[in-house]
Amino acid sequence: MSGRVLVTGGAGFIGSHIAEGYLRDGWEVTVLDDLSRGHESNVPKGARFLRADIRSPEARQALAAGGFDVLNHHAAQIDVRVSVDRPAFDSHINVVGFVNLLDGAGEGGVKRVIFASSGGVVYGDPEVIPTPETAPKMPISPYGVSKLAGEYYLRALAALRGFEGVAMRYANVFGPRQDPKSEAGVVSIFVSRLLEEQPLIVFGNGRQTRDYVFVKDVARANVLASTLPIPRDGEFDAPAFNIATSVQRNVLELAASVGEVMRREPRIEFAEARPGELFRSSLDVSKAKKVLGWSPQYVFEDGLRELVDWFKKEAR
Ligand SMILES: NC(=O)c1ccc[n+]([C@@H]2O[C@H](COP(=O)([O-])OP(=O)(O)OC[C@H]3O[C@@H](n4cnc5c(N)ncnc54)[C@H](O)[C@@H]3O)[C@@H](O)[C@H]2O)c1
Repeated sequence: MSGRVLVTGGAGFIGSHIAEGYLRDGWEVTVLDDLSRGHESNVPKGARFLRADIRSPEARQALAAGGFDVLNHHAAQIDVRVSVDRPAFDSHINVVGFVNLLDGAGEGGVKRVIFASSGGVVYGDPEVIPTPETAPKMPISPYGVSKLAGEYYLRALAALRGFEGVAMRYANVFGPRQDPKSEAGVVSIFVSRLLEEQPLIVFGNGRQTRDYVFVKDVARANVLASTLPIPRDGEFDAPAFNIATSVQRNVLELAASVGEVMRREPRIEFAEARPGELFRSSLDVSKAKKVLGWSPQYVFEDGLRELVDWFKKEAR
């Protein structure tokens, strides 16, 4: 099944892979992005491109008059540190901008809205690992609050305006096109530093774990979540899905894997632990398996290889 979809943030890392995933399944794709971080060259061939800010009347109008079946929302302010320094700026984009789009989606008769939330931040410092969707939501950063607020707006406006809302709570996504300057992209940072023969900086003792999911697996989950029936039992977490691997990998193991795949010995430099950093993080994906029939298919090292190949091509 396919239809017409608007992908916001489709000139960025995850959104561009999602736009490709839809095109592959026969969808008609429009990408909306203000290119504040993304690049027009990331927009896949075959997609229409609209340069606009999600906070603008143009973006709202694009949805109100566009005849879209699905809004897939990935445009965002993504940097936790920026949200700490400038919380009003973060919430203008991540909350007000999203609500502006939801308003347009309601007016335009959009059937389903998919929202990029974050399993790395909405649960705060969870007690249970791998963390299920029903765990308490206690975000620590303004970015985490803006993602959770987005989920609440999505639930409320979906009920009021008659569309379905789905929240995708990602773990650490990695893969080609991730900006090595972005804070979340430790895998990209390690690969690019090793290519430049720079030491890898490890904060704290390097035993802190994360759950790394490959971007093409994330794109597939989004396409599946666009048409499959989604539970609607009134519970807040019913239409929310963790998208992850449930495997924990620590920073030193990550550095070793990057070295093995690149056949280079990484030099590690330890730096002071960053305040507020979570010690362990991993998400339970059994619900996505059951409801969407989705599970991660990429072996971590194969994803790493694709990322390394992309970096080498980019450098040429
Ligand atoms: N990368 C991860 O590991 C991760 C984890 C959890 C959630 N997410 C979420 O996934 C989404 C995509 O993240 P990404 O890593 O691909 O980031 P990215 O920065 O590569 O993509 C975001 C895109 O949004 C665009 N954008 C930013 N502000 C905009 C605005 N006001 N109007 C229009 N476009 C705007 C940027 O130009 C960029 O192309 C975000 O919502 C992010 O919060 C990412």
